[in-house]
Amino acid sequence: MYKDVFGKALLDYHNDNYTEDIITWTNISDKDMLPLPYLFRNFEEMPMIEQEALKHSNGKILDVGCGTGNHSLWLQNKGFEVKAIDISMGAVSVAKSRGVNIVEQKHLLEETETYDTILLLMNGTGIFEELTKLNQYLEHLKSLLTKKGKILIDSSDIRYMYEDEEGSYWIDLNQNYYGELDYYISYKGEIETPMKWLYLDFDTLKTACQTVGFKCYKIIDGPHFDYLAQLKLF
Ligand SMILES: C[S@@+](CC[C@H](N)C(=O)[O-])C[C@H]1O[C@@H](n2cnc3c(N)ncnc32)[C@H](O)[C@@H]1O
Repeated sequence: MYKDVFGKALLDYHNDNYTEDIITWTNISDKDMLPLPYLFRNFEEMPMIEQEALKHSNGKILDVGCGTGNHSLWLQNKGFEVKAIDISMGAVSVAKSRGVNIVEQKHLLEETETYDTILLLMNGTGIFEELTKLNQYLEHLKSLLTKKGKILIDSSDIRYMYEDEEGSYWIDLNQNYYGELDYYISYKGEIETPMKWLYLDFDTLKTACQTVGFKCYKIIDGPHFDYLAQLKLF
């Protein structure tokens, strides 16, 4: 069952109870710290990929997996109509309290309105969970897009995580796609129910997009195997 460990951490930070960070790990990587202040970043503190995504946004905007509402707040201040959604009750409550006007606790697949821009940021493809669900999510996103609308999504090619010291890769070709990870988080000793989190290399995303009727092109590469892509209807 979902415990919203992530949301509890966001609420603590927002309510001036910041004592520790979130710890994350995956089936292929050791424990790592996710600093809570990073989840409350302003435009200047955002990676270039996110700044670029915001600059490409226009019209009526949907911020999927909004977290504390960093991207929504910037866009709202620029005068755009924004709706933010997140499955985390804690995130929704923090985003509201920080001033995002329209925030709903909602799973992406429950959304039904249409938008000119749909944002999925901070490894936006993670929300698709696993490769077998990719087409279902892309089809759904297609149904939420106006004719000339765009989806702005970032991800990383995590092949580098499988590289050993000699420079060879240990990807097991009999296993699922290498970007499909089991993702774990803990905060103040509480461990969230494990979730699936999908990292997608650009070519795999592009091929999937073509099968559901999206043109997919790369806007920019980030500094570490990451990239920002734009999806538009053919
Ligand atoms: C890595 S965080 C990114 C938060 C925010 N976009 C940012 O850049 O700071 C991913 C967010 O997506 C939310 N999320 C995960 N799956 C979701 C889904 N299916 N529908 C909506 N939100 C989802 C999580 O609760 C979390 O807040």
